[in-house]
Amino acid sequence: MSKTIQMEKLKIKEPEGKLGVLLPGLGAVATTFIAGVLAIRKGLGKPFGSITQMQTIRLGKRTEKRTPLIKDFVPLADLSYLVFGGWDIFKENCYQAARRVRVLDENLLEKLRPELEKIEAMKGVFNRNYVRNLNGNYIKWGNRWEMAQKLIEDIRSFKRKNKCQRLVMIWCGSTEVYMKKHRVHSSLKNFEEGLKKDSKFISPSMIYAYAALKEGIPFANGSPNLCVDTPALVELSKITKTPIVGKDFKTGQTLMKTIIAPGLKARVLGIRGWFSTNILGDRDGEVLADPLSFKTKEKSKLSVLDYILQPNLYPELYGKIEHLVRINYYPPREDNKEAWDNIDIFGWLGYPMQIKINFLCIDAILAAPLVLDLVLFLDLAKRAGLYGIQEWLSFYFKSPQVAEGLYPEHDLFIQLTKLKNTLRWMMGEELITHLGREYYET
Ligand SMILES: NC(=O)c1ccc[n+]([C@@H]2O[C@H](COP(=O)([O-])OP(=O)(O)OC[C@H]3O[C@@H](n4cnc5c(N)ncnc54)[C@H](O)[C@@H]3O)[C@@H](O)[C@H]2O)c1
Repeated sequence: MSKTIQMEKLKIKEPEGKLGVLLPGLGAVATTFIAGVLAIRKGLGKPFGSITQMQTIRLGKRTEKRTPLIKDFVPLADLSYLVFGGWDIFKENCYQAARRVRVLDENLLEKLRPELEKIEAMKGVFNRNYVRNLNGNYIKWGNRWEMAQKLIEDIRSFKRKNKCQRLVMIWCGSTEVYMKKHRVHSSLKNFEEGLKKDSKFISPSMIYAYAALKEGIPFANGSPNLCVDTPALVELSKITKTPIVGKDFKTGQTLMKTIIAPGLKARVLGIRGWFSTNILGDRDGEVLADPLSFKTKEKSKLSVLDYILQPNLYPELYGKIEHLVRINYYPPREDNKEAWDNIDIFGWLGYPMQIKINFLCIDAILAAPLVLDLVLFLDLAKRAGLYGIQEWLSFYFKSPQVAEGLYPEHDLFIQLTKLKNTLRWMMGEELITHLGREYYET
């Protein structure tokens, strides 16, 4: 039998006291997440889709039969210790926002009403140049530096009032216009100068990320915005020893893509074309109707196939793919998105075949458990002394943020293996390579 390698466990602080969850953008995703956690706490629903709550992890050899739930294996905060807050650019409480987005059932929301009504949006940091289809009127005033300071005040006062021991921030605000990295993003010094000079290259989501990182609060970016994916904010995350992760929650059509594309590639089946189209009717859809916000989303959605299929290594199979992504704003559908994919594939001797996928999903229902997992895992990472980019959480994102010069891993199953191995590594358990020779060695 091969030897078991004993790994050293990381020192992880216990999750004592309340964990405050701060969400810029109290729209469909944020309210479905908050109301969902409240419902689960009352036994009114189950956390389906959440890895932290429902998935197991195998430890040691298959013969050992040790497969605890992840939440029983790593010291995660208990759901009963979460408290919620956030910002928006419209003055609404969480109950009103949840009713407006119409994702969750009215009867369920009535049962949660007193708690949801207490969560009032704080005034957002907003500028229409970055989200051109929204016209928020509940916003802070000042230059970028002053707004960052106001956000820091909000954070401290939320922490004090709610008696939180720790905080996590997840960006659930709208998709901003497409932005490229600029000199102002190249270092923390340039970024802070940019804030003071009110540089137009600093978008609102970057100001939230800056405020969180200054306070040492783990930050995840659920949208495709550039946001925390800049050398300046990565530098700040290292200085304040804060975990960060992004970008763009992997739900719906891209989730399907990252399930199917690795399968086709594993069987070396070729792809000639992949046409993806969506109809979507909520505020997110309205924002994405602006070509500049759509460009940010499109970049995020398009990159996935290239990285998974590696056309440079397989030019005959994936060198000439027609990959198109369309999103149409169609109000009657609200958050109930409908996505169609047509995949033109080829097999043995180049014979053509087609796959059609018609996914009728509720976007926020797919995104809410991701928010929960990110909250709990980022809090765990912070207590374990991890900081900077947390690539092991790329499982949750369409455009995983990675170290400069590294290409992101998009294959959902590799991402899950990475996530679970990171948890094993944290807890001093043997990593699982799936080699399995020991079962056949006598
Ligand atoms: N729904 C999904 O499955 C999914 C998947 C991937 C990514 N996302 C991204 O997550 C984000 C949220 O999605 P959603 O469906 O909840 O959208 P939504 O439009 O329902 O909610 C976004 C909220 O953010 C608010 N907002 C915009 N700019 C703000 C600012 N600067 N400060 C504070 N609040 C601001 C808006 O008023 C709105 O209430 C979007 O960026 C979306 O692209 C969502």
